[in-house]
Amino acid sequence: MKAVILAGGSGTRLYPVTISVNKHFLPIYNKPMIYYPLSLVMLLGIKDVMFIVNPEDMDSFKKLFGDGSHLGMNISYEIQKKPNGLAEGLILAEDFIGNDNVCYMLGDNIFYGHDLINIMKDAKREIEINGGAYVFGYYVKDPERFGIVEFDEKGNVKSIEEKPQKPKSNYAIVGMYFYDNRAVEIAKNVKPSDRGELEITSVNEQYLKNGRLKVKLLGRGFAWFDAGTHDSFLEAGEFVATIEKKTGLMVGCIEEVAFNNGWIDKDTLLELAKPLRKTGYGKYLIELAERA
Ligand code: TTP
Repeated sequence: MKAVILAGGSGTRLYPVTISVNKHFLPIYNKPMIYYPLSLVMLLGIKDVMFIVNPEDMDSFKKLFGDGSHLGMNISYEIQKKPNGLAEGLILAEDFIGNDNVCYMLGDNIFYGHDLINIMKDAKREIEINGGAYVFGYYVKDPERFGIVEFDEKGNVKSIEEKPQKPKSNYAIVGMYFYDNRAVEIAKNVKPSDRGELEITSVNEQYLKNGRLKVKLLGRGFAWFDAGTHDSFLEAGEFVATIEKKTGLMVGCIEEVAFNNGWIDKDTLLELAKPLRKTGYGKYLIELAERA
Protein backbone atom coordinates (compact mmCIF):
# COMPACT_ATOMS: atom_id res chain seq x y z
CA MET A 1 0.00 0.00 0.00
CA LYS A 2 1.11 3.55 -0.73
CA ALA A 3 0.13 6.72 1.10
CA VAL A 4 -0.98 10.07 -0.22
CA ILE A 5 -1.08 12.99 2.20
CA LEU A 6 -3.04 16.09 1.25
CA ALA A 7 -1.10 19.18 2.22
CA GLY A 8 -2.45 21.81 -0.15
CA GLY A 9 -5.68 23.73 0.38
CA SER A 10 -6.24 27.37 1.21
CA GLY A 11 -6.39 27.35 5.01
CA THR A 12 -8.91 30.19 5.10
CA ARG A 13 -10.30 29.06 8.45
CA LEU A 14 -6.94 29.88 10.01
CA TYR A 15 -6.67 33.37 8.47
CA PRO A 16 -4.86 35.69 9.01
CA VAL A 17 -2.27 33.19 10.27
CA THR A 18 -2.20 31.26 7.01
CA ILE A 19 -2.20 34.16 4.56
CA SER A 20 1.55 33.86 4.15
CA VAL A 21 2.34 30.42 5.54
CA ASN A 22 0.90 27.01 4.73
CA LYS A 23 -0.87 25.61 7.79
CA HIS A 24 0.87 22.25 7.58
CA PHE A 25 4.13 23.89 8.70
CA LEU A 26 2.56 25.46 11.79
CA PRO A 27 3.55 23.90 15.11
CA ILE A 28 1.25 21.54 16.91
CA TYR A 29 3.18 21.98 20.18
CA ASN A 30 6.76 21.05 19.20
CA LYS A 31 6.65 19.84 15.61
CA PRO A 32 5.03 20.81 12.32
CA MET A 33 1.40 19.75 11.88
CA ILE A 34 2.33 17.60 8.89
CA TYR A 35 4.53 15.31 11.03
CA TYR A 36 1.43 13.82 12.65
CA PRO A 37 -0.21 12.27 9.57
CA LEU A 38 3.20 11.32 8.19
CA SER A 39 4.11 9.47 11.39
CA LEU A 40 0.85 7.53 11.22
CA VAL A 41 1.45 6.19 7.73
CA MET A 42 4.99 5.33 8.82
CA LEU A 43 3.57 3.42 11.80
CA LEU A 44 1.58 1.41 9.26
CA GLY A 45 4.88 0.43 7.67
CA ILE A 46 4.24 2.48 4.51
CA LYS A 47 7.49 3.76 2.99
CA ASP A 48 6.17 5.25 -0.26
CA VAL A 49 4.50 8.57 0.43
CA MET A 50 3.35 11.35 -1.86
CA PHE A 51 2.44 14.83 -0.60
CA ILE A 52 -0.07 16.88 -2.59
CA VAL A 53 1.08 20.48 -2.23
CA ASN A 54 0.35 24.02 -3.43
CA PRO A 55 2.78 25.31 -6.08
CA GLU A 56 4.26 27.98 -3.79
CA ASP A 57 4.95 25.48 -0.99
CA MET A 58 6.79 22.77 -2.91
CA ASP A 59 10.25 24.06 -1.99
CA SER A 60 9.42 24.32 1.70
CA PHE A 61 8.12 20.76 1.75
CA LYS A 62 11.28 19.59 0.02
CA LYS A 63 13.34 21.44 2.61
CA LEU A 64 11.48 19.60 5.36
CA PHE A 65 11.41 16.08 3.95
CA GLY A 66 13.62 15.94 0.84
CA ASP A 67 13.26 12.59 -0.88
CA GLY A 68 12.71 10.89 2.47
CA SER A 69 15.89 8.80 2.21
CA HIS A 70 17.18 10.14 5.56
CA LEU A 71 14.16 8.39 7.09
CA GLY A 72 14.58 5.29 4.97
CA MET A 73 11.57 6.30 2.90
CA ASN A 74 10.62 7.36 -0.62
CA ILE A 75 8.88 10.71 -0.44
CA SER A 76 7.60 12.50 -3.53
CA TYR A 77 5.46 15.53 -4.27
CA GLU A 78 2.75 16.50 -6.70
CA ILE A 79 1.48 20.00 -7.22
CA GLN A 80 -2.20 20.83 -6.98
CA LYS A 81 -2.58 24.07 -8.89
CA LYS A 82 -5.72 25.13 -7.05
CA PRO A 83 -7.58 23.74 -4.03
CA ASN A 84 -10.15 21.94 -6.16
CA GLY A 85 -11.15 19.56 -3.40
CA LEU A 86 -10.01 16.53 -1.47
CA ALA A 87 -10.83 14.00 -4.18
CA GLU A 88 -8.55 15.70 -6.70
CA GLY A 89 -5.48 14.40 -4.89
CA LEU A 90 -6.40 10.86 -5.94
CA ILE A 91 -6.38 11.93 -9.59
CA LEU A 92 -3.12 13.85 -9.23
CA ALA A 93 -1.49 10.83 -7.58
CA GLU A 94 -2.66 8.40 -10.25
CA ASP A 95 0.81 7.52 -11.59
CA PHE A 96 2.25 7.29 -8.09
CA ILE A 97 -0.54 4.97 -6.90
CA GLY A 98 -0.14 2.81 -10.01
CA ASN A 99 -1.80 -0.56 -9.37
CA ASP A 100 -1.56 -0.27 -5.61
CA ASN A 101 -4.05 0.42 -2.83
CA VAL A 102 -3.84 3.73 -1.04
CA CYS A 103 -3.95 5.15 2.44
CA TYR A 104 -5.28 8.68 1.93
CA MET A 105 -4.67 11.17 4.73
CA LEU A 106 -5.57 14.79 5.34
CA GLY A 107 -2.51 16.78 6.36
CA ASP A 108 -4.32 18.73 9.07
CA ASN A 109 -5.85 15.77 10.90
CA ILE A 110 -4.34 14.58 14.16
CA PHE A 111 -5.18 11.27 15.81
CA TYR A 112 -4.28 9.74 19.12
CA GLY A 113 -5.55 6.71 20.96
CA HIS A 114 -4.85 3.34 22.43
CA ASP A 115 -4.78 0.65 19.76
CA LEU A 116 -5.18 3.21 16.96
CA ILE A 117 -2.40 1.68 14.92
CA ASN A 118 -3.84 -1.82 15.22
CA ILE A 119 -7.22 -0.54 14.08
CA MET A 120 -5.55 1.16 11.12
CA LYS A 121 -3.58 -1.99 10.35
CA ASP A 122 -6.82 -3.98 10.32
CA ALA A 123 -8.26 -1.51 7.81
CA LYS A 124 -5.14 -1.75 5.66
CA ARG A 125 -5.27 -5.55 5.72
CA GLU A 126 -9.00 -5.56 4.91
CA ILE A 127 -8.43 -3.42 1.80
CA GLU A 128 -5.41 -5.44 0.73
CA ILE A 129 -7.34 -8.71 0.98
CA ASN A 130 -10.90 -7.76 0.04
CA GLY A 131 -10.67 -4.35 -1.65
CA GLY A 132 -13.28 -1.59 -1.24
CA ALA A 133 -13.01 1.44 1.01
CA TYR A 134 -12.55 1.69 4.75
CA VAL A 135 -13.26 4.90 6.65
CA PHE A 136 -13.73 5.93 10.28
CA GLY A 137 -16.51 7.79 12.06
CA TYR A 138 -16.10 9.99 15.13
CA TYR A 139 -18.76 11.66 17.28
CA VAL A 140 -18.79 15.45 16.88
CA LYS A 141 -20.91 18.23 18.35
CA ASP A 142 -20.90 20.30 15.14
CA PRO A 143 -21.82 17.87 12.34
CA GLU A 144 -22.60 20.71 9.89
CA ARG A 145 -18.84 21.15 9.43
CA PHE A 146 -18.03 17.61 8.26
CA GLY A 147 -18.84 14.68 6.01
CA ILE A 148 -21.51 12.88 8.05
CA VAL A 149 -22.42 9.21 8.04
CA GLU A 150 -25.91 7.92 8.85
CA PHE A 151 -26.60 4.37 10.11
CA ASP A 152 -29.70 2.21 10.22
CA GLU A 153 -30.75 0.39 13.40
CA LYS A 154 -28.54 -2.57 12.49
CA GLY A 155 -25.50 -0.32 12.17
CA ASN A 156 -25.33 -0.46 8.36
CA VAL A 157 -24.40 2.77 6.60
CA LYS A 158 -27.47 4.44 5.09
CA SER A 159 -26.03 7.66 3.71
CA ILE A 160 -23.06 9.98 3.67
CA GLU A 161 -23.49 13.71 3.27
CA GLU A 162 -20.95 16.51 3.01
CA LYS A 163 -21.52 19.40 5.42
CA PRO A 164 -25.29 18.74 5.72
CA GLN A 165 -27.56 21.59 6.81
CA LYS A 166 -29.75 19.05 8.61
CA PRO A 167 -27.30 16.35 9.76
CA LYS A 168 -28.76 12.86 10.07
CA SER A 169 -26.22 11.88 12.73
CA ASN A 170 -23.32 13.24 14.75
CA TYR A 171 -20.73 10.93 13.24
CA ALA A 172 -18.15 12.67 11.08
CA ILE A 173 -15.93 10.78 8.66
CA VAL A 174 -12.38 11.56 9.73
CA GLY A 175 -9.49 12.39 7.41
CA MET A 176 -7.98 8.94 7.11
CA TYR A 177 -9.27 6.76 4.28
CA PHE A 178 -8.17 3.38 2.95
CA TYR A 179 -9.04 2.69 -0.68
CA ASP A 180 -8.47 -0.01 -3.22
CA ASN A 181 -7.14 0.96 -6.63
CA ARG A 182 -10.61 1.82 -7.98
CA ALA A 183 -10.59 5.08 -5.99
CA VAL A 184 -8.65 6.85 -8.75
CA GLU A 185 -11.25 6.03 -11.42
CA ILE A 186 -14.06 6.89 -9.04
CA ALA A 187 -12.45 10.26 -8.27
CA LYS A 188 -12.13 10.97 -12.00
CA ASN A 189 -15.88 10.61 -12.37
CA VAL A 190 -16.79 12.86 -9.47
CA LYS A 191 -18.61 16.06 -10.45
CA PRO A 192 -17.80 19.29 -8.61
CA SER A 193 -20.17 20.04 -5.72
CA ASP A 194 -22.19 23.24 -5.28
CA ARG A 195 -19.12 24.82 -3.68
CA GLY A 196 -17.11 23.84 -6.76
CA GLU A 197 -14.96 21.13 -5.15
CA LEU A 198 -14.34 17.47 -5.94
CA GLU A 199 -15.57 16.08 -2.64
CA ILE A 200 -14.06 13.02 -1.01
CA THR A 201 -17.59 12.35 0.28
CA SER A 202 -18.62 11.71 -3.35
CA VAL A 203 -15.89 9.05 -3.63
CA ASN A 204 -17.10 7.44 -0.40
CA GLU A 205 -20.73 7.63 -1.60
CA GLN A 206 -19.79 5.75 -4.75
CA TYR A 207 -18.17 2.97 -2.69
CA LEU A 208 -21.34 2.92 -0.57
CA LYS A 209 -23.51 2.58 -3.70
CA ASN A 210 -21.32 -0.31 -4.84
CA GLY A 211 -21.75 -1.95 -1.42
CA ARG A 212 -18.00 -1.66 -0.85
CA LEU A 213 -17.76 0.87 2.00
CA LYS A 214 -16.82 -0.12 5.52
CA VAL A 215 -17.15 2.37 8.37
CA LYS A 216 -15.69 1.79 11.80
CA LEU A 217 -16.53 4.10 14.66
CA LEU A 218 -13.73 5.42 16.82
CA GLY A 219 -15.04 5.51 20.38
CA ARG A 220 -14.33 7.69 23.38
CA GLY A 221 -10.83 6.34 23.82
CA PHE A 222 -9.67 8.27 20.77
CA ALA A 223 -8.82 11.87 20.20
CA TRP A 224 -9.27 13.34 16.74
CA PHE A 225 -8.54 16.91 15.76
CA ASP A 226 -9.16 18.62 12.46
CA ALA A 227 -6.58 21.26 13.35
CA GLY A 228 -7.80 23.71 10.70
CA THR A 229 -9.52 26.26 12.95
CA HIS A 230 -8.06 28.57 15.59
CA ASP A 231 -9.63 26.65 18.47
CA SER A 232 -8.95 23.11 17.25
CA PHE A 233 -5.38 24.10 16.37
CA LEU A 234 -4.78 25.30 19.92
CA GLU A 235 -6.60 22.32 21.45
CA ALA A 236 -4.49 19.88 19.42
CA GLY A 237 -1.28 21.56 20.58
CA GLU A 238 -2.37 21.55 24.22
CA PHE A 239 -3.43 17.91 23.94
CA VAL A 240 -0.09 16.80 22.49
CA ALA A 241 1.83 18.80 25.10
CA THR A 242 -0.15 17.18 27.93
CA ILE A 243 0.24 13.64 26.57
CA GLU A 244 3.97 14.06 25.92
CA LYS A 245 4.67 15.53 29.36
CA LYS A 246 2.60 12.87 31.14
CA THR A 247 3.96 9.86 29.27
CA GLY A 248 7.47 11.06 28.48
CA LEU A 249 6.87 9.78 24.94
CA MET A 250 6.42 11.79 21.79
CA VAL A 251 3.43 11.81 19.50
CA GLY A 252 4.19 12.20 15.79
CA CYS A 253 7.98 11.94 16.04
CA ILE A 254 8.94 10.77 12.55
CA GLU A 255 12.60 10.02 13.33
CA GLU A 256 11.56 7.81 16.25
CA VAL A 257 9.14 5.85 14.07
CA ALA A 258 11.76 5.40 11.34
CA PHE A 259 14.20 4.14 13.96
CA ASN A 260 11.72 1.78 15.63
CA ASN A 261 10.72 0.46 12.20
CA GLY A 262 14.36 -0.40 11.55
CA TRP A 263 14.47 1.99 8.57
CA ILE A 264 17.38 3.97 10.01
CA ASP A 265 20.21 2.94 12.33
CA LYS A 266 21.48 4.51 15.55
CA ASP A 267 24.16 6.60 13.83
CA THR A 268 21.65 8.08 11.42
CA LEU A 269 19.32 8.89 14.30
CA LEU A 270 22.14 10.72 16.10
CA GLU A 271 22.97 12.58 12.87
CA LEU A 272 19.34 13.67 12.50
CA ALA A 273 19.28 14.79 16.15
CA LYS A 274 22.39 16.99 15.82
CA PRO A 275 20.80 20.15 14.39
CA LEU A 276 17.91 19.75 16.85
CA ARG A 277 20.02 19.27 19.98
CA LYS A 278 19.05 22.60 21.58
CA THR A 279 15.44 21.45 21.75
CA GLY A 280 13.56 18.90 23.79
CA TYR A 281 12.85 17.21 20.48
CA GLY A 282 16.53 16.74 19.71
CA LYS A 283 17.35 15.61 23.23
CA TYR A 284 14.57 13.04 23.00
CA LEU A 285 16.12 11.60 19.84
CA ILE A 286 19.58 11.49 21.43
CA GLU A 287 18.21 9.65 24.49
CA LEU A 288 16.41 7.25 22.20
CA ALA A 289 19.64 6.45 20.37
CA GLU A 290 21.62 6.11 23.59
CA ARG A 291 19.08 3.75 25.14
CA ALA A 292 19.16 1.48 22.08
P1 TTP B 1 -9.74 21.64 4.46
O1 TTP B 1 -9.35 21.95 5.84
O2 TTP B 1 -11.10 21.09 4.23
O3 TTP B 1 -9.56 22.90 3.53
P2 TTP B 1 -8.41 23.97 3.53
O4 TTP B 1 -7.12 23.44 4.03
O5 TTP B 1 -8.40 24.59 2.18
O6 TTP B 1 -8.84 25.02 4.64
P3 TTP B 1 -10.04 26.05 4.78
O7 TTP B 1 -11.32 25.26 4.78
O8 TTP B 1 -9.74 26.66 6.11
O9 TTP B 1 -9.92 27.07 3.68
O10 TTP B 1 -8.70 20.61 3.85
C1 TTP B 1 -8.40 19.42 4.50
C2 TTP B 1 -6.98 19.03 4.19
O11 TTP B 1 -6.81 18.78 2.80
C3 TTP B 1 -5.96 20.06 4.55
O12 TTP B 1 -4.84 19.39 5.08
C4 TTP B 1 -5.63 20.73 3.24
C5 TTP B 1 -5.87 19.67 2.22
N1 TTP B 1 -6.44 20.10 0.93
C6 TTP B 1 -5.74 19.89 -0.22
O13 TTP B 1 -4.59 19.40 -0.21
N2 TTP B 1 -6.32 20.23 -1.41
C7 TTP B 1 -7.56 20.75 -1.50
O14 TTP B 1 -8.04 21.02 -2.62
C8 TTP B 1 -8.28 20.99 -0.28
C9 TTP B 1 -9.66 21.58 -0.31
C10 TTP B 1 -7.68 20.64 0.91
